[in-house]
Amino acid sequence: MAIKPVRKAVLPVAGFGTRVLPATKSIPKEMMPVFDRPAIDHVVREALEAGIEHIVFVTGRNKGAIEDYFDSAYELEDSLSKRAGKEAILEEVRATSLPAGSTSFTRQQSAKGLGHAVLCAKDIIGDEPFAVLLPDVLVQGEESCLKQMMGHYNEVGGNIIAVDEVPMERVHKYGVIKPAAGADASSQLIKMDAMVEKPPREEAPSNLKITGRYILQPEIFALLETQGAGAGNEIQLTDSMERLMAEQDFYATRFQGHDFDCGDKMLYLQATAGYALADKENGAKAREILEELLKRYS
Ligand code: UTP
Repeated sequence: MAIKPVRKAVLPVAGFGTRVLPATKSIPKEMMPVFDRPAIDHVVREALEAGIEHIVFVTGRNKGAIEDYFDSAYELEDSLSKRAGKEAILEEVRATSLPAGSTSFTRQQSAKGLGHAVLCAKDIIGDEPFAVLLPDVLVQGEESCLKQMMGHYNEVGGNIIAVDEVPMERVHKYGVIKPAAGADASSQLIKMDAMVEKPPREEAPSNLKITGRYILQPEIFALLETQGAGAGNEIQLTDSMERLMAEQDFYATRFQGHDFDCGDKMLYLQATAGYALADKENGAKAREILEELLKRYS
């Protein structure tokens, strides 16, 4: 059977971001800057680099800033265009507005969980495979994480989950995958047959943690529609993925790169420093600043 292309991506942005309050009291977590741009801009770039043509934002109350950010800002652009020396920044500002018709914004009226947020995109996605990118997870690398997953998807089809290796002593903090019998867990593409949430070290089926990027078949929606509340009393995407696994193939892409969870205060700090250090133009200066700070506070 022909493999249907993945054209659309869902970015769920309706959560409250309670772990980073009070910063998120009046700005969306996804708009917090990671070095030179909001976290969500990094994720949208990742999706576009992977060939995504249409982005569905699942928003909620107080998330209007996200919609404005990806729109054009006529007064700002006009003002910059009349000022000498602002050409480069004008180009950068223009590049953040996404082409007309390439975005949809739909609302999740109440934050009932990630699975429910994805379900809110059902009618816009229709009967096609699609990607889900969690915008508080950033992945830095030579080639974007979703692009690496797309490469695998175009080979094998089915459903794909991004995974990253973690030290065995931290495995109890994450959802990890169980490679299928006979699958080579050290390869980049791994056939899997289960996911286990926060297993004790001695029971962990692998040290490959699930990392906020998914390619899913549209049959997930029917399962989400009947999905009861799970962990944290929320409708969990992983619960429906587990049910889909009984009917369809699931693979894991062990991506090349580093991931940052910006939904947590300390890891957000790590992301900001990581993106500054990796920046071609400003990396050396960022290192100087960080080294000076370390001296000052040591
Ligand atoms: P998180 O659980 O990391 O985000 O969900 P959160 O709920 O905003 O954060 P905390 O735990 O309270 O600090 C991952 C992504 O899924 C979205 C969030 O906006 C975030 O980008 N999400 C989560 C929804 O869109 N709806 C939900 O009901 C839950």
